[in-house]
Amino acid sequence: MSIVVGGGTGFVGKHFAKLGISKGFKIINVSRTAKPNCITWNDLSRSGLPDDCAAVVSLSGEPILQPFKWWTPEMKLKIRESRIDKVKLLNQAICAAPKPPGVFVSISGVGYYKPDAHKEYTESDIVEPFDFLSEVTRDWEAAAVLPSNVKTRLVVVRSGVVLGNDGGMVANIKTPFYFGLGGPIGSGKQWLPWIYVEDTVGIIMHAIENEHITGILNGTAPNPVTSEEFTKAYASALRRPHLFPMPAFVAKAVFGAEAAGVLLEGQKVLPKRTLEMGYTFKYTDIKWVCEKLVSS
Ligand SMILES: NC(=O)c1ccc[n+]([C@@H]2O[C@H](COP(=O)([O-])OP(=O)(O)OC[C@H]3O[C@@H](n4cnc5c(N)ncnc54)[C@H](OP(=O)(O)O)[C@@H]3O)[C@@H](O)[C@H]2O)c1
Repeated sequence: MSIVVGGGTGFVGKHFAKLGISKGFKIINVSRTAKPNCITWNDLSRSGLPDDCAAVVSLSGEPILQPFKWWTPEMKLKIRESRIDKVKLLNQAICAAPKPPGVFVSISGVGYYKPDAHKEYTESDIVEPFDFLSEVTRDWEAAAVLPSNVKTRLVVVRSGVVLGNDGGMVANIKTPFYFGLGGPIGSGKQWLPWIYVEDTVGIIMHAIENEHITGILNGTAPNPVTSEEFTKAYASALRRPHLFPMPAFVAKAVFGAEAAGVLLEGQKVLPKRTLEMGYTFKYTDIKWVCEKLVSS
């Protein structure tokens, strides 16, 4: 059986492919460009899903935090379209399939929840959009919703910051931290809703393999930490000092004031429903994860 993965060529997708292949699935990535083991978005629209498609997974998205790529109107359009338009294409392919897959797993983000120093968010919290990213997230999740006559299950994984040595946030900070130039970001007191990449792909696979699961699952580790607890643990695992803070004005100069909010503010997000749905996290301790990040 095959799993079709939109945006599967990226950081999370590569880990997902490894897990999927180990379980005997054939992974077919959908990409903007033709490459081995990939079809293009045009191929998908033209030829549809393969007959043996067991699941569709959506992982596409222009990265939201890139140094010196501020959220200009053009960048905002890219952030929106790379998510929402690609989810719509997968949704349409599922609707058009003569034999629709059993499940559609679509990733989104904890940007859905409004940053707050004290509130604990779970999947049952309904939050009205309050900024650009939360509007994108609402529309991203809505674009995945299938018409009621389609029997494919929908699971949305609202992901926290995915930690892994080969992509995402860690790939961006590892050089300065390696050279002993790391430290807290902003006040350091903001929540960092983190998850180790093997658990991100573990939750996606759990949703595929368990037919009772539908709806929202928070993709965040059960033990949230503050941003400073993470940067301290990471510097310590690297055996480097944690001395050089990145003040808010530097974050704003590098990422632009609006995007820097993602680093400078955070939400405490708990995976209540993910646990209730039977997922067992492998990585729950940030110190242990940081040791793994530097040794892998
Ligand atoms: N990493 C995190 O910390 C994190 C946290 C929360 C949510 N997420 C979400 O999880 C998903 C996977 O994350 P990731 O870190 O694996 O992402 P990634 O590696 O940055 O990107 C995934 C794929 O998206 C496609 N893509 C990138 N820019 C695009 C654009 N402008 N238009 C269309 N497609 C584009 C690329 O595929 P092709 O080049 O093959 O087309 C890329 O391989 C993303 O939707 C991301 O927003 C990630």
